[in-house]
Amino acid sequence: MTLNPNPTVKPLVTGFFDPATNTISYVVQDPASPACAIIDSVMDIDYAAGRITYTHADAMIAHVRDHGLTLEWLIETHVHADHLSAAPYIQNALGGQIGIGRAITVVQDTFGKVFNEGTEFQRDGSQFDRLFDDGDTYTVGQMTCVALHTPGHTPACMTHLIGDAAFVGDTLFMPDGGSARADFPGGDAGQLYDSIQRVLALPDQTRLFMCHDYGPGGRDIAYETTVAEEKAHNIHITGKTREEFVALRTARDATLAMPKLIIPSLQVNMRGGELPPPDKDGKRYLKVPINGL
Ligand SMILES: [Fe+2]
Repeated sequence: MTLNPNPTVKPLVTGFFDPATNTISYVVQDPASPACAIIDSVMDIDYAAGRITYTHADAMIAHVRDHGLTLEWLIETHVHADHLSAAPYIQNALGGQIGIGRAITVVQDTFGKVFNEGTEFQRDGSQFDRLFDDGDTYTVGQMTCVALHTPGHTPACMTHLIGDAAFVGDTLFMPDGGSARADFPGGDAGQLYDSIQRVLALPDQTRLFMCHDYGPGGRDIAYETTVAEEKAHNIHITGKTREEFVALRTARDATLAMPKLIIPSLQVNMRGGELPPPDKDGKRYLKVPINGL
C-alpha cells in the first residue's frame, strides 16, 4: 500500500501532445501556489536531416511563463526510446531540477556499451540533479510528491504520484491500448505486470496520466483515465493472470519493430537530455551502431 501524503489535492494538469512521437508531456501545477513540474518533455528531431528543433518545448515554456508559474522539477518517468527529452533546454530557460529513477545507472551501463561511449560517459546518473529511490518524496509548491519504482518496461521506470494524479510513464496505456512493450534490454513482462498491479492498488478515483497514446481503432487521442477504469477495462490486464499477461505481452512484443527514434533517443536520454559532447571539429554527432541493438 502506498502512502500518499496529499490524496485530496487536485493539481491542475495540462497535457501537450506531440503528434510526431505520440508522446504526452505535462505541466502539473500546485493549486495552492505558482509552483509546477514538467513531466516527460520532448525535443523535436528530424532524424533524416539530423536537425534538432524546440517547437514542443517552447510551447511548454510559453505556457509556464504565460501563467506566471515557477518550474521546480523536470521529471523523466524513464529513459524513453521513442523521443528525445528537452529537459536541459527547458531547465536552461526556466530553472528547476531534473529527476529520474536511480536505476538509470543500469540503463546507462547497458547503452554506454551499445554505443561504445568509453570512460568519458559517466554511468553514475550524475547528469541528473536527483535520482529517486522507491518511495522517495519531493515537493512541488505545497504538494509532497512520491516516486514509485515501477520497472518492467525499462529498469528505471517510475510512477510519480502528485496529489490525486499519477503519472504512469509507460507502465500502462489507456484501457483500450493495454500496456507498453517489455522487450527492451532490461525489460521484463512479469515485472511490468507486478508494477501495473502496484499502480492499480492506488485508490479507484486516482487520475492516471499516460505518457503515450496511439488512438487505437482510430479514436481521438486520449491520455487521462482512472484506476477504476483501468481495473475494469484494460485489454491486457483485466481478468488476466500474471502468466496470461506475460504470454500475451511476450507474443505481442515479438511482432513489434524498433521505435523509429530509438537510436538518437537513447544516446540523448541516457545523458539526461544532452546531446553527445562535441567531436574534434566542435560539432555534435549521433552514432548508429551496426547490428548493435
Ligand atoms: Fe518508453
